Parts: sequence; C-alpha cells; structure tokens
Amino acid sequence: MIKILFVCLGNICRSPMAEFIFRDMAEKRGLGGQFTVASAAISSEELGNPVYPPAKRKLYSLGIDCSGKRARQMRREDYREYDLLLGMEQRHLNQMRRICGGDPEGKIHLMLEHSPHPHDIDDPWYTDDFDTACAEIQEGCGQWLDALAGETLPE
Ligand code: 4NP
Repeated sequence: MIKILFVCLGNICRSPMAEFIFRDMAEKRGLGGQFTVASAAISSEELGNPVYPPAKRKLYSLGIDCSGKRARQMRREDYREYDLLLGMEQRHLNQMRRICGGDPEGKIHLMLEHSPHPHDIDDPWYTDDFDTACAEIQEGCGQWLDALAGETLPE
C-alpha cells in the first residue's frame, strides 16, 4: 500500500482534482487497492469548503463525483502518515518542507516531476483555465501511477 497526499494552496481546485483523478485512474488499472490518496491545503483560506464548482464540473465531465470532499489543511503529522507528498508548484514544496520540519525521507515531490520538462501547475483559481490544469493533473497522475505501479505489484 502506497499512501499519497496531494497538496496545493487552497485544496479546492488542483489537489482535489489530483486526488480524485489519481484514485479513478488507479481503479481503472485494477490498482485501486494498492493506493490510499487524499489531498490538503497549505493555506487555511478555504478550510471546510467543497471543491470549487468549475473543478467539480471538470471531474464530473470525467465521470467522477467529488461531492463529499471538504478542504483541510496539511499538518506536520501528514509526513509520518503518507509515503509521498506531491505539491503542484515548486514554491509549495518549500512551504510543505516548512510544515513538516524538513524532508528527511525524501517524500516531498513536484506533481509534474516526471514530465520531460517539469513545471508548476498554474493555479486555475487565478488563470480560470481549468482545462489546462485538469490536463496537466491527468498527465502527472498517469506518470506517478506508471512510476509507482511496479512497486506495488507482486514479484
Ligand atoms: P487551489 O486554488 O490551490 O488549486 O485549491 C486556490 C483556491 C483558493 C485560493 C487559492 C488557491 N484562495 O486563496 O482562496
């Protein structure tokens, strides 16, 4: 079992999309039982709020229902609880390391780390471009799933 926490600024757009898309992809590849996924915010701005409607609509268009999700803030204990903590932007990684008191086990990584040109996933809350954010999140989820699937399968 691999436990993954997706992290963004508010936990109402990018990281919930990543959480739900990753879970859906893993299930469709028959690997649902191999992963536990969740998402959290760096900021306290949106705590308790549901997924932002345009992000919710993107997920719905993919056949994914995220209606139960509420924003929660990342805690220091998450570092012990999760095997991988994936941030959407490089600057999130610094904030995540600060929350966790460093990254002694190398668990904190960028969502698009496996892309040919690793880069941030821009905040659709500001860009209003949920199509690009969703496509990049799908790309990142697929790449992480490819990278991790071998580790979860029996010899
Ligand atoms: P997210 O987008 O980090 O992708 O969830 C944001 C949503 C809300 C805020 C910032 C980013 N906000 O400042 O309220």
